[in-house]
Amino acid sequence: MAINLKDKIKEQLSENVQKALLECSETAEKYGFKIYLIGGVVRDLFLEKEIFDIDVTVEGNAIEFCHKLADEKYCKIIQVQDKLKTAKTVFSSETEIDFASTRQEFYPKRGHLPVAVRIGCSLQEDVYRRDFTVNSLAISLNKKTFGDVVDYVGGIEDLANKTLRVLHDNSFNEDPSRIIRGLKFAARFGFHRDKHTKELQEKYQREQLHKDISWTRIKSEIKQAFSLNTGKIFDMFLANGVEKLFYAQKPDIKGLEIKTLIDRHPVDNPWLVYLGCILKDEEIIDAFCFTRAEKKIFTDRDILLSENLSMLNSNYAIYKFFEKKSPEAVLVYYLLSKRKEALIYIEKLSKIRVELKGSDIKELGITDGKKIGRMLDEILKKKLSGTIVNKKDEIAFVKAQTK
Ligand code: CTP
Repeated sequence: MAINLKDKIKEQLSENVQKALLECSETAEKYGFKIYLIGGVVRDLFLEKEIFDIDVTVEGNAIEFCHKLADEKYCKIIQVQDKLKTAKTVFSSETEIDFASTRQEFYPKRGHLPVAVRIGCSLQEDVYRRDFTVNSLAISLNKKTFGDVVDYVGGIEDLANKTLRVLHDNSFNEDPSRIIRGLKFAARFGFHRDKHTKELQEKYQREQLHKDISWTRIKSEIKQAFSLNTGKIFDMFLANGVEKLFYAQKPDIKGLEIKTLIDRHPVDNPWLVYLGCILKDEEIIDAFCFTRAEKKIFTDRDILLSENLSMLNSNYAIYKFFEKKSPEAVLVYYLLSKRKEALIYIEKLSKIRVELKGSDIKELGITDGKKIGRMLDEILKKKLSGTIVNKKDEIAFVKAQTK
């Protein structure tokens, strides 16, 4: 008898999501579609973990189904991808649901985005294109079978044993970003790879001698993995030689060291601190298509590493050296160089500010723009060396100069 997760759906999904799923169910019934919850949401229902994304697969054409939902006024279609026949929707309860058509895939080049060959295949054919058995479970949303789990690949047993198992031997060739996904799931859920999956991964990593793969996919998985900000995942990357996948280097740094530094000095992009410690290859940095702010972290890191530090003989010199660099780059620089000046800057100097503004100095009697600039710089120097401490001192200093 099929396992039924109706109760878990009630317990774990918000009322808004449940309402949207019932509306899907009604519509499927009315128009004769077969629909399923699929992938991560099913895995996380089993594991009783927090659920972020709701993915539904339609045996057939998901766009047609979404139009029926929209006709019934249950949802708005906000995005459609015609080639793969997928759609993003938002329901009246503000629930977002992604719909995909069942499909069988053909990969033109290893590691590249697939070219769909058959849309609207059976669910059983669809699940074989997926990464791991634990991500290939489905839950029926049709009325009569609502909540029934469909497991064509032994995913339930693998979930119980915390095992990551690929569905076929070509899985990593088709999509090497799955290697990083595997580590991400290992770190998040304590999963381990089964023996054959581990061998296939090692074989792929041994034989992979080209740079001809989809770097956007790899980058997206690295971002998700390192954004978890667990030192463990960084150590797992290096222990498994996964950094070689994107031509990165193995530094003498432990993940916990990076995590501790980030926790003490939070930055906008913690994942880039991890990546900045290992990624040097310029070709791959270009291939990752970083945003300008992201790219600056790598450029700043390289500038810092190439500078001669002999002139860093005062707090002011240290401040000026790091001042315009991105905070992530300064953390990376410290991790790679262990220069104490970087830590002095991060922990102390970067927090020092001149409290007076140009307009305050003008009011105190200095009107020349250039002089005001010089005065602000003088105050900064004195604050960094500790001879001026607070705003009162700053005012007294300016007044003394104007006498
Ligand atoms: N998938 C895959 N191969 C990939 C990426 C995704 O087979 N490289 C399939 C898996 O079945 C996965 C589903 O697409 O469950 C949805 O992918 P995604 O949303 O990226 O991941 P989730 O499994 O939902 O996990 P997460 O909680 O990290 O979002």
